[in-house]
Amino acid sequence: MSLPTSTTSVGRRSFLAGACATCAAAVAGCAGYGSGPAPAAPPPPAGAAAGALVSTADVPVGGGVALAAQNVVVTQPTAGTFKAFDATCTHQGCTVNEVAEGTIRCPCHGSSFSAADGSVTGGPATAPLPEKAVKVVGNAVTLA
Ligand code: FES
Repeated sequence: MSLPTSTTSVGRRSFLAGACATCAAAVAGCAGYGSGPAPAAPPPPAGAAAGALVSTADVPVGGGVALAAQNVVVTQPTAGTFKAFDATCTHQGCTVNEVAEGTIRCPCHGSSFSAADGSVTGGPATAPLPEKAVKVVGNAVTLA
């Protein structure tokens, strides 16, 4: 009578022990995932250049968008023509925050400015919004 050799079962134990060590490392790696640094911001859209302000598709024809973080208003007075203006109202320094019906509007005292050239269309402001040079690169409006 022969006893079964233990080679096979030892082999399995060794294999399982190795597999468990691998699993433990993987689990430890996963456990640390949530406590690490925040993931990087997504890359800019394809075709966007560094310094891109906004996608051309996000600027309505005859209107515009106020970009508070960049302190810029980007407008598209006519299809394919993009303009940008400093978003600091020339009356008392509030940030203009709306573009509607061809005008850029200030919420503080109601001044309005032309979306085409930044000129005053309604007081109390008396000076135009300074224009900023922009260009279209790919599908993005960028500072020139
Ligand atoms: S600060 Fe804009 S209207 Fe007064």
